Amino acid sequence: MQTGGIAFFDSGVGGLSVLSACRESVGSLPIYYFGDNARAPYGNRNIEDIRAYTHEAFSLFQRLGVAVAVVACNTVTAVMIDELRAAYPFPIIGIEPAVLPAARKGGRVLVLSTKATAESERLKRLIAVAQRRFLGSKIQTLACDRLAGEIETACKCGRLWSSFSLPRVAADRVVLGCTHYSLIKDRIADFYGAEVFDGNVAVANRLKEVIAEQVKNRAVSCEKSPQSAYVSLSKKSLRNLRFFVEKRKGKLRRFLLKKEACFWKVRNAQSLYFLGSGRIFNRQFYERMFAFKQ
Ligand code: DGL
Repeated sequence: MQTGGIAFFDSGVGGLSVLSACRESVGSLPIYYFGDNARAPYGNRNIEDIRAYTHEAFSLFQRLGVAVAVVACNTVTAVMIDELRAAYPFPIIGIEPAVLPAARKGGRVLVLSTKATAESERLKRLIAVAQRRFLGSKIQTLACDRLAGEIETACKCGRLWSSFSLPRVAADRVVLGCTHYSLIKDRIADFYGAEVFDGNVAVANRLKEVIAEQVKNRAVSCEKSPQSAYVSLSKKSLRNLRFFVEKRKGKLRRFLLKKEACFWKVRNAQSLYFLGSGRIFNRQFYERMFAFKQ
């Protein structure tokens, strides 16, 4: 099945903040947003599990014939972006914490991330570069063990105003090293009274370039204006995932992963598939993040 779509992957809802920033870059191409919501958060899991779960999602992307994939997850980027690029035939864009732009401004820079990202060699290397380059900055990394999970639950239940476990540290700039945190960016800015940075715009810019290259190489075509579909997925195991499962008025409808089966609703908009490993509870939240209304 060749769809030429753009895939986004995260452990759960965090990558929706990236998807939202990439809205323009994607244009009219079909979108697959895969949140492994039954197994989120990833940040405290062992590296082998993160690798295995991510490969399951990327195998699905490969079967869908996507043109470009975005790892809308700092944890997965930190743990295995090179491995993914070596394993799959389509271009893969990762997300980096915006440590350099924050450090350029000097002062106390606080990098918040998951445990796996904080412990990764990739982040340590990036911080070392920033520290050498911008001597006027003092960079501190803190792993927030509970934060991504709290945000995932809050979004799932439509309770984004609940309280979150943010570490009390003085900072002039805060770098969000986890895409979940971008969903409460304003709250974090208020809490620290500091300027907040995330990597979402950098991803959007890079995605635009990569799509342009793909169009030039004829790997995707922007000419066709696709029909739209809204499919939420509920499936216990990803391993044998062969169906989109859509729940409507209490009824489950299954769609084989074949082109004609996926396009079940015709609208003058974009094809947008929200996929997940568990139930999508708060559909309004997903739709709002992408300003996608039916
Ligand atoms: N949103 C992800 C990240 O950017 C994953 C957070 C998690 O699942 O722990 O790191």
